[in-house]
Amino acid sequence: MRDRISIALQVNGKPYRLEVEPRRLLADVLRRDLGFTGVHLGCEHGVCGACTVLLDGELVRSCLMFAVQADGCEILTVEGLNASGDLHPIQRAFIEEFGFQCGFCTPGMILAAYRLLQERPRPSAEEIRRALAGNLCRCTGYADILRSVQRAAVLLAEAEETRAP
Ligand code: FES
Ligand code: FES
Repeated sequence: MRDRISIALQVNGKPYRLEVEPRRLLADVLRRDLGFTGVHLGCEHGVCGACTVLLDGELVRSCLMFAVQADGCEILTVEGLNASGDLHPIQRAFIEEFGFQCGFCTPGMILAAYRLLQERPRPSAEEIRRALAGNLCRCTGYADILRSVQRAAVLLAEAEETRAP
């Protein structure tokens, strides 16, 4: 049996090739091997959402996947949202509306909001609640998080208008 398997990942637009043991979790490889420390590990069994990333455009809990299962996939972590150096509008909205306290849940919340706003640029409060239902916040800041996503929708719409010819 081979100890390590060669995999290729595209993370935040950059290609990586690495050798991993088949038992390693995607979350551990992203955080510990590749240094994407925005991938937080809370429960490590799929409950809290802190380890959320986008895998080929869909939300996944990276603590529930082996890294080898992500071979050949494109991954977006929270760091990828401001790869240009400027904060993403969703990140700005979370600052403006005090959408975090300790920040542990925040990367997962922001990526869940990002995915929601791709599909529903002007979501209702209920849609936001549903989209974030799988992300837990121990600081109990849900009202501020809800307002942050509503604010993010406004900032994204403004950014879109600015880009329009
Ligand atoms: S650490 Fe993955 S869901 Fe909690
Ligand atoms: S801000 Fe602390 S867990 Fe959500």
